[in-house]
Amino acid sequence: MALSSTQDLETPFTTAVLGSDVDFWRSYIAGRPSPDESFFHLINEYHSSHGQSKTAIAHDVGTGPDNIAQRLLAYYDHVVGSDLNDQALAAAPALIPSELYKRTTFIKSPAEALASGVVPNGVGLGKTDLITVSECIPLLDAPKALDAFHELLRPEGTLAIYFYGRAIFAEGDIHTLNAIYDAIATRICTFLLPFKGTPGFPFHVRGAEALVSRLDNIAFPSESWKGVERYKWNYDYPLLFNSKEGYDFDFEPVDRRAEGEKTIEVIDKQFWAKEWGVEEVKTYLDSVYPNWQKKAGARSTEVDELLEELRNALGGGGSKKKVTFPVVLILATKK
Ligand SMILES: C[S@@+](CC[C@H](N)C(=O)[O-])C[C@H]1O[C@@H](n2cnc3c(N)ncnc32)[C@H](O)[C@@H]1O
Repeated sequence: MALSSTQDLETPFTTAVLGSDVDFWRSYIAGRPSPDESFFHLINEYHSSHGQSKTAIAHDVGTGPDNIAQRLLAYYDHVVGSDLNDQALAAAPALIPSELYKRTTFIKSPAEALASGVVPNGVGLGKTDLITVSECIPLLDAPKALDAFHELLRPEGTLAIYFYGRAIFAEGDIHTLNAIYDAIATRICTFLLPFKGTPGFPFHVRGAEALVSRLDNIAFPSESWKGVERYKWNYDYPLLFNSKEGYDFDFEPVDRRAEGEKTIEVIDKQFWAKEWGVEEVKTYLDSVYPNWQKKAGARSTEVDELLEELRNALGGGGSKKKVTFPVVLILATKK
């Protein structure tokens, strides 16, 4: 679709960060929750118990600044990172130690096109042991992307898709803290409106549907995939980053889980737990809603006021409390 200069395509976490440099990605990594090593052990255990447990090649899709690809280098001989944002890929050498960088390959490609010959033969089609899709699947055309992942994987290779959402305060007056947190995130989302009627609208609908469905809207056709397991940590809180009131369209959960799939629901307020105060919340929200201040203009003072409310509820000053996250992980094996 041709776009006029007054109607740019704005999509969640793609166009808003396309021009971002190393500093943006450094602060992105610092501000994001980071999986405990036990999370990768869980993926590895699944991988070794579903078919051959070869660990030659992993591919991290939507790799951004390579933060998760780097973690995979502890378990895999070679890691491929792909993303459609070449600025993120360009930041990787500055963010990864050079001895690790030698064991990586970076590819600029949309996830949906990864089977079209863009991945070098040695690390490509039919040879990949593990594909991870970290914090990215709601941005993708999932059926098309899953077809490409299926081609990239070797038989009995593992696909691990995961996504974390809003922060959850897990100690103190959690009711008040979580309500203020949500009010801040929801207010920020309203600054980004309109979504409806813009070229990016289909992307917003896709993302919102995936989050409100806790990724159950993503189907794993049984002719291609087996052993599907869906973990949902802290499912007592929404995976959405903010309340529905922040959007200008309605959306409902969609469930495309097939018979025979396993769903494992866990409430664990120690999961990926961190100590967060106002500064950490601010950094997280800045990375979830890149450039929101530009859209908010003078209205950003509304967020400052809410942040002060949060500061007081936390105990004032630099007080911090434990936060955790709702996280969904889907594991599947290529047939
Ligand atoms: C929130 S960041 C996640 C980065 C990293 N994987 C992580 O876990 O922190 C989302 C990434 O997905 C990438 N992305 C968005 N749409 C994509 C697509 N269609 N194909 C490949 N990457 C895409 C963005 O460029 C961005 O780097």
